[in-house]
Amino acid sequence: MYLTDEEKAMLEGAQGEGVRKAMEIVTALGTVYGAERLVPIEHAHVAGVSFKNLGDAGLEFLRNWALQGAWARVPATLNPAGLDLSRWRELGFPEEFAKRQRAVSSAFAALGLEPIYTCTPYHVGFIPEKGQHIAWSESSAVLYANSVLGARTNREGGPGALAAAIVGRTAAYGLHLDENRRPTHIVEVKCRLETPSDYGLLGYLIGTEIPGGVVYLRGKTLGSATETHLKALGAALATGSSISLFHVEGVTPEADECAPSGDLPVMPIETLDEARKAFGTEPLDIDLVWLGCPHVSREELVHIAGLLEGKELATALWITTAKSIRDWATGQGILETIEASGARVVADTCVVVAPVEQMGVKTMMTNSRKGAYFAPAHAHLQVRYGSLEQCIKVAVTGRWEGGDETT
Ligand code: F3S
Repeated sequence: MYLTDEEKAMLEGAQGEGVRKAMEIVTALGTVYGAERLVPIEHAHVAGVSFKNLGDAGLEFLRNWALQGAWARVPATLNPAGLDLSRWRELGFPEEFAKRQRAVSSAFAALGLEPIYTCTPYHVGFIPEKGQHIAWSESSAVLYANSVLGARTNREGGPGALAAAIVGRTAAYGLHLDENRRPTHIVEVKCRLETPSDYGLLGYLIGTEIPGGVVYLRGKTLGSATETHLKALGAALATGSSISLFHVEGVTPEADECAPSGDLPVMPIETLDEARKAFGTEPLDIDLVWLGCPHVSREELVHIAGLLEGKELATALWITTAKSIRDWATGQGILETIEASGARVVADTCVVVAPVEQMGVKTMMTNSRKGAYFAPAHAHLQVRYGSLEQCIKVAVTGRWEGGDETT
């Protein structure tokens, strides 16, 4: 792999052991994937932030790297942590877990990362431009950056994204290169899609049929897809497949230049019914309703506030988002409207990376395909899936009744 003189010096330790280690990781990844050079990046986003996933060994690893002089040389944000860093006590997070998570936050601060804990950095001002190279390691954010914004990132691992932040570069392979951004499969969508949950089901269906590559979606109904719809589509696609880029005809920024050519496999989608049935449908008492996977935007929060206004909830409802969005909602009076119902706007974390099983949660309903996929394995929850409106209805009654609620 070609390295500039500065990059060679970094690899030889001229800028200290912490930078040397980071350059070793970045070049090793480049060698594995056949990169010919490195590219400078504008931003990094690092996943693997919850103490629940890192444990003491991960915490020690971060501390040591900081002690070796590693420091992010480009702006770098963090994925959700294991708790709400300012309201954890009020929300019932365990004290000992909070202590460990705060130690993780200190370790990331010592590495120069921004104390911004969200899987939607693009909702809080980190919006890469079309063609810009970045190193992001949250799969739903990777899909959004590549597909909706036209930026360029591979699906990095947490340590890889952190190493890229420290050297300000990543290896030029995969989706950093023009030739790998062209579609490999066409998806013809023939059914109506209305809600973000419908787009989540669409992503689920595609991901179960097409394990990897770049998909090009066509279909009349897709013309009115909003960024919220595409966010749900990308998050769901990322769970079941290694797909990290999609184009939507007439909608996404590279759809024209990447219009399909040649004989590509075509997947027709006539209905979402089978995808709905893939989730449990039997009646269930629900301990927690979860909205905000991926973290909600300001617009989504306003919409949810409208649906919750004047309601009284029978079960816990968490809406997860970035802290700056909650702060904004507080200033607008939106938080008050939401929380008067009994719901809570929870910042910095999400159900999958929080220790919810230690907090007595056993059953959950969500409008997120990704949340429904990961919560059973990561938080040992029984899960039901439905639209935003169905989730709020269940929060009011405390029970998923099944039957025709599934359609
Ligand atoms: Fe974000 Fe957690 Fe979902 S990191 S995409 S809210 S699983």
